[in-house]
Amino acid sequence: MMDITLAKGSPETLRTGLLVVGAFAHGELTPAAKQIDTATDGRLSVLLKRGELEAKAGSILLLQEIPGLVAERLLVVSLGKKEEFSEKAYREAVAAAAKALAASATTAAVVTLTDIDVPDRSLDWRLQTASRFLADGAYNFDAPGKRRESKKTERGVENVSLSVSGEPKDAEAAINRGLAIAEGMALAKDLGNLPGNVCNPSYFAETAQKLGQEFGFDVDVLEREDMEKLGMGAFLSVGRASYSPCKMIAMHYKGGGADDKPIVLVGKGITFDTGGISLKPGANLDEMKFDMSGAGSVFGAIKTVARLKLPINVVGLVPAAENMPGGNASRPGDVVTSMSGQTIEILNTDAEGRLILCDALTYAERFDPACVVDIATLTGACVIALGAHASGLYANDDELAAELLASGTSTGDRAWQMPLWDDYQSQLKSNFADMSNLGGQPAGSVTAACFLSRFTKAYKWAHLDIAGTASVSGDAKGSTGRPVPLLTDFLISRAAR
Ligand code: BES
Ligand code: MN
Ligand code: ZN
Repeated sequence: MMDITLAKGSPETLRTGLLVVGAFAHGELTPAAKQIDTATDGRLSVLLKRGELEAKAGSILLLQEIPGLVAERLLVVSLGKKEEFSEKAYREAVAAAAKALAASATTAAVVTLTDIDVPDRSLDWRLQTASRFLADGAYNFDAPGKRRESKKTERGVENVSLSVSGEPKDAEAAINRGLAIAEGMALAKDLGNLPGNVCNPSYFAETAQKLGQEFGFDVDVLEREDMEKLGMGAFLSVGRASYSPCKMIAMHYKGGGADDKPIVLVGKGITFDTGGISLKPGANLDEMKFDMSGAGSVFGAIKTVARLKLPINVVGLVPAAENMPGGNASRPGDVVTSMSGQTIEILNTDAEGRLILCDALTYAERFDPACVVDIATLTGACVIALGAHASGLYANDDELAAELLASGTSTGDRAWQMPLWDDYQSQLKSNFADMSNLGGQPAGSVTAACFLSRFTKAYKWAHLDIAGTASVSGDAKGSTGRPVPLLTDFLISRAAR
């Protein structure tokens, strides 16, 4: 884990491998950049006036061995146009710096971006955000399937100093929060990136037990027989044809008072989604190993919360199963009875997420929750609606929705609220059961949420559809660690209120 502290002294005098400084478009310097410019006889402003740094926020210019500077390297990061400077531009600048730090030949850096005022945001926010992005930028998946020789050589900055003017009070706590969030994201990414033959439901159970031991909280794992007794017919129907048995995992983090109602996080833990008998087409099917990203984000958020010892109670609930075809698999047309007693006609075995979640959501009632938030790579339709930029948010409580939206904005891990109107419910009609698990083509993300809403009437509830945000395809294929930033910001805010 990266080490981050506060820098002391004027930037141009600091002995470090890499000094990071911000500049606005068209050569307007930040205070730190001005000091560097003076120390280097105006060399920095000459380069900037010449247009060596692109105007777009997050563009970078790496300079080596500049006369007048003690630092070996100077990384100039564009902040975009001064009049347009915003928290988004700040995040882009910090993320670009993080990328350069991770690739650098040096191990120590001083980052002065934290000394730039961001409209409507505090110094704490700047420190926490920078720490999170810098530590997250150093994330590297230690792929168990890659032989040592073929792995990237170890490179990158390990020790970072952040410079700020004045004597901030809670700087250390803010830095700590950033680091803890990055650590939660790293766990979510690791779980997501692991292949389905390693990260199966039992692997989740072991991960939960280890976290419980490390941080001292209780973990329960329900086995098939336990779940049969509870009547979780919807959940168990999904994992039937897999050789990896289903698990229902509950992590009980208790940082709050004995009477404080817990916040329950429920994460979809389909460790691989073939679609079942309604088999998915083959193209990019490997990416269905990411169908456990909701669960991954719950593990990640719990780790952050435990690392920070937040004074709240949180239950992390993970229904884990593998959706496979086979002689014992559910068929389209099968009718199952959920734990709630409501019956479901399975018209498509590929709409399995809602089947495992509905029983977990009913099970959540027994914790007498303050609220329940489920997180799921639930629908391809959500990717069509919102792409990779926002997670879909649904809620039966406007205050809860507003809190989650604000956490998304504050972290840049954004969500967008979608309707949960009754008008959509009729799409779930079945001729043979209380409801079908299929809502048809129109508004597929909405009807999936409507399905879940039938199991969440007992408490305040929100649902995040993260199908578009949890992973990326292409050259950078991998887990993003989202929405750990959103979830942990929400929990940190709840702990503070
Ligand atoms: N895991 C998928 C949703 C998904 C799609 C996640 C693309 C990430 C990227 C989910 O289980 C699924 O298959 N949903 C179906 C539902 C349909 C059958 C109603 C879908 O979206 O096609
Ligand atoms: Mn599916
Ligand atoms: Zn799925």
